[in-house]
Amino acid sequence: MAKNWEIAQFREKQFWDKIYLEKNIDIKSHQPVGIERGLEFLFKTLNRHRVKLNFLNNKNVADLGCGPTGLAFGLNFLSQNSYLNRTKIFAIDPLIDYYEGYDLLKSNERLSLINKKGENTGLIDNSLDLVFSSNAIDHVEDPQQVIKEVRRILKPSGQFLVSSHVLYRVYSGIAPIFKYIDKNHPHHFSETYLKNLLEKEFERVELTYSATMIEDNADLSFYRISRSATLIQGIKRALSNYVLQTVYFSCE
Ligand SMILES: C[S@@+](CC[C@H](N)C(=O)[O-])C[C@H]1O[C@@H](n2cnc3c(N)ncnc32)[C@H](O)[C@@H]1O
Repeated sequence: MAKNWEIAQFREKQFWDKIYLEKNIDIKSHQPVGIERGLEFLFKTLNRHRVKLNFLNNKNVADLGCGPTGLAFGLNFLSQNSYLNRTKIFAIDPLIDYYEGYDLLKSNERLSLINKKGENTGLIDNSLDLVFSSNAIDHVEDPQQVIKEVRRILKPSGQFLVSSHVLYRVYSGIAPIFKYIDKNHPHHFSETYLKNLLEKEFERVELTYSATMIEDNADLSFYRISRSATLIQGIKRALSNYVLQTVYFSCE
């Protein structure tokens, strides 16, 4: 359980507000995500999990910890424009009602917005074919409970496709210190620690891709970092390039 979850969530709202409400482009270092970048993110994530788009047709698919412009954002666009056939999308996030204020995601017959924590989604047992979770498992209050909940709502043949920032192995021994440096994340996993959590609920857990931070996030390029609001913020973000990587797991 994470004691600092509420603080992290407060910061999460501040972060998105700056971009989408205040349209405060510090945030010169972070760019708003429009549908073009949303789709790029979706296809990149599908590739890294080795999932083809047409595999999602006729499936019940969730995005857990979806944020305002995460995978559900791109999936909804594709569904609304007939690139997906009868895919039902469940966008789960305890801030989803809040994010609705940004006018990016609106529920419709194929998209359900679920304002719940991933620890207790309220969805029925064995009801989903795929659950994605991108950059969210280290933001939740109780990661093991979330993984257990995902196993419960997935059909027995279902897949959990989860990606997360993790510390490079060399820093894993000093993981407890990171919560004082980086208050936006309640957890700082190593790849092995996260894999062990997943293996408690899933028989097969396969690492399908690992990416450096810059490879995955243009906002961490040195040009964008140099435009951070404060020097400290810039230094922290530059360091994250050397301390963290992103791992993609496929769990069955
Ligand atoms: C860094 S954002 C990632 C958003 C999105 N997945 C993306 O890749 O753009 C992390 C998200 O996790 C959500 N989150 C935090 N705690 C959660 C929980 N207990 N269950 C589900 N989502 C949670 C936050 O509200 C936030 O929207």
